[in-house]
Amino acid sequence: MDRLEITLPDDFHVHLRQGPGLAAYASRSASRFGRLLVMPNVVPPLVSSRALDDYRKAVEAAIRSSPNASTVLSTFKLIPGMGADAVMDCVRAGAVAAKYYPAGATTNAQDGVPDPTVIAEELATVERAGLVLCVHAEDPAAPVMEREEAFIPVLDGIIGRYPRLRVVMEHLSSVAAVDAVLRWPGRVAATITAHHLAFTVDDLLGERLSVGFFCKPVLKTARDREALVSAATSGSPKFFFGSDSAPHSPAAKAAGAAGCYTSPLALELLAGVFDEAGALDRLEGFVSLAGAGFYGLSPNEGRLRLWRSDWTVPALLDGVEPLAAGRMLVWMAERLP
Ligand code: NCD
Ligand code: ZN
Repeated sequence: MDRLEITLPDDFHVHLRQGPGLAAYASRSASRFGRLLVMPNVVPPLVSSRALDDYRKAVEAAIRSSPNASTVLSTFKLIPGMGADAVMDCVRAGAVAAKYYPAGATTNAQDGVPDPTVIAEELATVERAGLVLCVHAEDPAAPVMEREEAFIPVLDGIIGRYPRLRVVMEHLSSVAAVDAVLRWPGRVAATITAHHLAFTVDDLLGERLSVGFFCKPVLKTARDREALVSAATSGSPKFFFGSDSAPHSPAAKAAGAAGCYTSPLALELLAGVFDEAGALDRLEGFVSLAGAGFYGLSPNEGRLRLWRSDWTVPALLDGVEPLAAGRMLVWMAERLP
């Protein structure tokens, strides 16, 4: 197959930031995705209806001044001590998911959750309100390559203690995580990024240190990547796409910030991965149908075209070095008008 047309995809995990970059990142995402689940780790964090409203309006204004329409899905951050009322305040502002960052696990997560018992009341409220709990599943106290696996018992506890809570384990990176998601009940699903499907720790460290490939969770081994590709191409509705596109300025990247800007090339990378796995017919399920199904949304009405064609990822896009800058990709993608 050299070309295909699919339902317009959604991105169920994206960082659009704030300030000068926001308009370019939001416009870029809208050029490829029908809906954007926007992460709340801005500064100060999104923890109230007021903050959520203001942020959503800023993103919507940026999208409106771009050529493509896209729907913003809001999330808020769970902060110790915020209380059930603050959670309900965010629910009323239209949030569809609460985001759990273990304290210190990633960019802007110093104010995150040290232990789930600290936010027991907030988690019970998320469950009662029927929102999704999106979890950055890493234990920052564990060795860097083992942080995701070390967090699985914490998720076991949350899933057991809140029997109706719908949970998304975010940006899977390891065999252990894939196995856990398969073992958990149907109300637990997972996002997988394009970069964790396409690359390994060797792209980050194998030849020269290539900080463009540095993200949390860190890219893992070929064996882990194979398990992720099997999960994504399996057709299981438990696995769907979230880019975790996380742009950082060149200066921040040079100083070692975790996060890869992938919105401009994620769909092209995914097509390459699914093609190589002989599973292009499963791509639409993964990027356009499974996530919408989990969030109770109908598929988008728009369409996306993909075709086989070589191109080189530019050194700079939207003021940021994109993931895999300088590498050649073999698929292209375009949102159809
Ligand atoms: C993200 C960021 O920069 O906001 N970084 C990353 O490495 N993925 C935060 C996150 O999702 O971990
Ligand atoms: Zn993220």
